Amino acid sequence: MIITVTLNAAIDKTLAVPNFRLGRRHRSVEQTSMAGGKGVNVARALKSLGQPVIATGVAGGPTGTRLVEQLTEEAILNDFVRIREESRTSTAVVDPTSGEQTEINERGPAVSEGELELFVDKLSYLAKGAAVCVFSGSLPRGVEPGLYARLIEDMRRLGVTTVIDSEGEALRLAMRGEPTVVTPNEREAEELVGHEFAEEEDRLVATREMLELGAREAVMTLPTGCVALVGDGETRLHRVTLEPLETPVSAVGSGDAFLAGYVSARYAGESPEDCLRFGVACGAESTQHFGAGVLDPRRVERLLPDVELEVLAEPVLGPRG
Ligand SMILES: Nc1ncnc2c1ncn2[C@@H]1O[C@H](COP(=O)(O)OP(=O)(O)OP(=O)(O)O)[C@@H](O)[C@H]1O
Ligand SMILES: [Mg+2]
Repeated sequence: MIITVTLNAAIDKTLAVPNFRLGRRHRSVEQTSMAGGKGVNVARALKSLGQPVIATGVAGGPTGTRLVEQLTEEAILNDFVRIREESRTSTAVVDPTSGEQTEINERGPAVSEGELELFVDKLSYLAKGAAVCVFSGSLPRGVEPGLYARLIEDMRRLGVTTVIDSEGEALRLAMRGEPTVVTPNEREAEELVGHEFAEEEDRLVATREMLELGAREAVMTLPTGCVALVGDGETRLHRVTLEPLETPVSAVGSGDAFLAGYVSARYAGESPEDCLRFGVACGAESTQHFGAGVLDPRRVERLLPDVELEVLAEPVLGPRG
């Protein structure tokens, strides 16, 4: 079983608005509303890839009820702790004429200490039947910023592989828990290692820097694929690329689809290289769909032969590293 943890689950509303401009009134030409939050998107994609997955986290109020109902309607196994405050709604506006997307995320609910302890207990219980646990997204208000590190340590003690996809302080502190894999996008990685990437070499060096911060393996997603320092025991540096697909419908959640693909292949015991290839194909395929974590496994297979993978020599850490 694979567990996905979403502590800031939401109802994700996506609106297609042609020629979207600030300060104007618009009509949407298409709209969807589905259970969301990063870990929920990962669970949706894992399910369509045929993997056994259970989505957990916290959910509250009428929005939380809807969220759980929608997951159940999609036949995504779920076990959320109910909280007092209302779960949030996140809105994404996608402009089909430019391909640009604008996201507005509501401030999420605060979670009390008691509610959090219920969640911690639930996760330990679920972990007994799990091989992998994916922690995705931001932390809710009211919880200690070091929560991910604590949960990652708990999972590690139970022999569960941990994957962390978060940002800011939550991610920085999570590294102290020594996650198996960290999977930021480029901006999140810059923030994590503490400097901007001016050239390709900086990205490559950053993968090593992420290992020095505590992760055992590091994958940085890019709009063109990923760079990754991964491997069992001995890590190797990889660059994986796929020509960006023409006419993406929506890139919202492509990182979550990447993660689902990567974890799915890893759960199936594929090589580190095949896990990366499959992740990149899933991330790309998901851009052809409206809705985060939605992908078509048959089309993923068709994209796979076009994914290029190079094994690179690790650059020597410069004075900055
Ligand atoms: N236009 C595109 N065409 C093909 N692949 C894409 C495109 N945009 C993104 N991808 C793929 O999706 C994956 C994730 O990309 P990215 O780094 O943008 O994730 P992200 O910023 O974490 O996204 P999110 O957090 O919204 O899920 C990458 O592997 C990338 O190759
Ligand atoms: Mg992401």
